[in-house]
Amino acid sequence: MIKNIKGTKDLLPEETYNIQDIENHLNRFMHLHGYGEIRTPIFESTELFTRSVGQDTDIVNKEMYTWNDQNGQSLTLRPEMTASVVRAYIQKQLWKVEPISKFYYVGPSFRRERPQKGRLRQFHQFGVEAIGSYHPEQDAEIISIAYNIYQMFGVNKLSVKINTLGSDDVRNKYTNQLKKSLSKFKSIFNESEYQRLENNPLRILDSKNKDIQALVTKHAPNIFDYISKEDKHHFETVLQILDAMEIPYTHDTNLVRGLDYYNRTVFEIISDQLGGQDALCGGGRYDNLINELGGADIPAMGFAAGMERLIIAMNLENDQNTQTDIYIINTEQTLIDQSMKLADDIRRNLGVAVYTDSLRRSLKSQLRHANKINSKYTIIIDSNTVENNTVVIKDMEQNQQESVTIDNVISHFESE
Ligand code: HAM
Repeated sequence: MIKNIKGTKDLLPEETYNIQDIENHLNRFMHLHGYGEIRTPIFESTELFTRSVGQDTDIVNKEMYTWNDQNGQSLTLRPEMTASVVRAYIQKQLWKVEPISKFYYVGPSFRRERPQKGRLRQFHQFGVEAIGSYHPEQDAEIISIAYNIYQMFGVNKLSVKINTLGSDDVRNKYTNQLKKSLSKFKSIFNESEYQRLENNPLRILDSKNKDIQALVTKHAPNIFDYISKEDKHHFETVLQILDAMEIPYTHDTNLVRGLDYYNRTVFEIISDQLGGQDALCGGGRYDNLINELGGADIPAMGFAAGMERLIIAMNLENDQNTQTDIYIINTEQTLIDQSMKLADDIRRNLGVAVYTDSLRRSLKSQLRHANKINSKYTIIIDSNTVENNTVVIKDMEQNQQESVTIDNVISHFESE
């Protein structure tokens, strides 16, 4: 038997229904904030990700699905979507059209990670990118959007962690000092962590290894002591706006994020419900990426959220929602035409979901099925009722039924 690939998932209609519902809310929410949806290709040239996400990151080093196509071009399934949005922005020279572009997106991303709860190899990200503003109110807007989305979906017990990485030159000075301070303790590091200290020292700050965490707490310099007055002012203004918007947060000086393109503000939102350390979402400012990928000198800020993790946090994993409003029960072949026509009339006039049986099942088993799929009403049509020009409408929740003239079925539901 051919099976799906490890770390991928088939979504059956009940699960897809939850996702569609979430997406509808997200579309509306983003529209209210003036953001428009962007859709970019699922695969891109590999170079886009090595140059943006960064050569020394886990994503680029070991998690990308990369192959050479028939022309020998190296292609990669997108491991995230910020790089693609920036590529499209540069390619279309959108800064010439508008001084600020506000995008959101929803779609699959691919990382060859070790699969576990809330961690897949094909997962879905919802994300937001605002390209064009250096100002702290842009950072606060993005963080508040992320926070308010979880509030909208009833996910409580959130913790917003926020930090600043300062500007590039400051970060270089800081990372040199960090390397110097920690490399004295080489024996505490295993080989791959020491390699990380050499190649991507900032990531040592959010190591999961307890000994290294203790080392960091005791001996790592604090980035906040290195950043410039402007960086500090920017960060403090972001916090001040978040306070005004009543968004709770904690300043976590060890938060650095796993992608290389960030500067200044970074943040993550964590939920107790996920277990482990995994974040619901994360993002930050990336003021140099557009320039580094060949565009103009334009700043940006954004975040992305895992849809699967949102569904876990919403406790929707086992929710079997369906959309059936009315189930038409007919057991007689001579009435198939009439019941299918009735179903279509109801759909067309009332815009509600109507289910008809195509297995020619018994009355009992159609009723059982209507119950199973949570249909709110059933309409029973048979030769006796038709003789009187009526059907029986049953309210499944109230367990009450009444006889209604066929011509009045639509107006009956209109008055419900
Ligand atoms: P990221 O932190 O790598 O950032 O991913 C964002 C979110 O995607 C994570 O917080 C998590 O919810 C979800 N996620 C990541 N990997 C997996 C996985 N294997 N399985 C399930 N969910 C996953 C980014 O991707 C940046 N592009 C965010 C950003 C946008 N920064 C600025 N703009």
